[in-house]
Amino acid sequence: MSKMKKVVVIGGTGLIGSKAVKLLQDAGHEAVAASSRNGINAYTGEGLADALAGADAVIDVSNMMSFDKDVITDFFATSSRNLTSAELAAGVRHHVVLSIVNADQLAANPYMAGKLAQEEAVASSGQAYTIVRATQFHEFIETLAGAYAADGVVKVPDIDFQPIAADDVAAALVEAALGEPKNGAVDLAGPERASFESFIRTYLDAKGDARPVSADASVDYFGAPVVMGSLVPSGNYIKGEITLAEWLRT
Ligand SMILES: NC(=O)c1ccc[n+]([C@@H]2O[C@H](COP(=O)([O-])OP(=O)(O)OC[C@H]3O[C@@H](n4cnc5c(N)ncnc54)[C@H](OP(=O)(O)O)[C@@H]3O)[C@@H](O)[C@H]2O)c1
Repeated sequence: MSKMKKVVVIGGTGLIGSKAVKLLQDAGHEAVAASSRNGINAYTGEGLADALAGADAVIDVSNMMSFDKDVITDFFATSSRNLTSAELAAGVRHHVVLSIVNADQLAANPYMAGKLAQEEAVASSGQAYTIVRATQFHEFIETLAGAYAADGVVKVPDIDFQPIAADDVAAALVEAALGEPKNGAVDLAGPERASFESFIRTYLDAKGDARPVSADASVDYFGAPVVMGSLVPSGNYIKGEITLAEWLRT
């Protein structure tokens, strides 16, 4: 039986973070659900030293939604620098951060530029780390459908898509955190790859939304030009188990 460990989940009150905290606790570990509203702030550094004392690993799933590149880049880079230096001071063994598949190729999208800055801050920190790059969550498809809707039609990029359930993401992060640092990135994607259009269609059908969905090669990913493989892993990856249809049924 593995030894009980203390793991600090930065963003532990959010979608992925709350699931990771529960998985850790269910497995008998001590999990700290860290977030700015409970006095542990990765961006300002408030509360980090106390929270990290005695921790074996940190899972960073904090988030900030902005499409201002300077704001989002500053948030992710500053938070990662604060976290990794506090971890080094506290003797934390492993930093795990959740990023996005192909973030480096999509940096014309301001949010992706922020995620790339986050990855770079972690990789250059001197702290042992693993970057887990996930595809878009099933839970994010509603936001995507809304963002691509105009004039009663949902027009999406003509590319592949391979979404993953938040439960699968949380499980992969916990496994990564309890394991050895890769000092590199691993990709994580859902069990099915198909067109972006078909996933949006499946989602809207399940919600009783009959708006037409079409694919258009001129549509980008929120400012980033895309090709067929832009949102899916190109090499080896960890595969989640929960299909969109299964997730929709629950
Ligand atoms: N959506 C997708 O499809 C997708 C795909 C791949 C990767 N990701 C990544 O997944 C990560 C987690 O996303 P999510 O949907 O779980 O986020 P979320 O539900 O919005 O939760 C964000 C969490 O971050 C905390 N937080 C924000 N600022 C903080 C700060 N300064 N210090 C400490 N905690 C802070 C929030 O709590 P407080 O407000 O209390 O601080 C909250 O607990 C993000 O980094 C995102 O880039 C998302």
